Amino acid sequence: MARALPPGGRLITLEIDLHHAEVARRNLARAKLSDRVEVRIGRASELLDAMQGFVEPFDFVFIDADKASSDVYLKAVLTLSHPGTVIIVDNVVRDGKVADASSGDEDIQGIRRMTEWLATQPTISATAIQTVGGKSYDGFLMAIVG
Ligand SMILES: C[S@@+](CC[C@H](N)C(=O)[O-])C[C@H]1O[C@@H](n2cnc3c(N)ncnc32)[C@H](O)[C@@H]1O
Repeated sequence: MARALPPGGRLITLEIDLHHAEVARRNLARAKLSDRVEVRIGRASELLDAMQGFVEPFDFVFIDADKASSDVYLKAVLTLSHPGTVIIVDNVVRDGKVADASSGDEDIQGIRRMTEWLATQPTISATAIQTVGGKSYDGFLMAIVG
């Protein structure tokens, strides 16, 4: 993603785990991308709230943290978007378990809350793409803000 940025483009990534953040920073430095990628450490929901009014709207957002908060993250990033922003949410199919409304799994319920809320938003176009590979049967959601 960082390599695809246009000149002057910036990427901000949010990470709650200090060790993961340090690994990311080290790898970004090794890839000579530190000048355009900022790793912010903390709870994504709080970091997203703190960005309100302090960042330009994002052109592209990739959501891939704790799935139980998927609906919270999607609503927060919409306030940091503009018409045309593309939002990808990873791992939204989860072996098909997302179809089970009675699931007691918080991750499943977080994804279901997100997709059910999205379906009520007439200005956002979204679809989920299922993927099957060596790793798993899963999928991602793609939304375009209208
Ligand atoms: C599936 S990994 C992300 C992988 C990354 N997208 C990649 O492709 O390399 C999920 C990450 O989200 C982080 N995470 C989990 N809950 C979080 C939260 N509440 N706020 C911020 N980061 C969180 C985890 O520590 C983990 O590093």
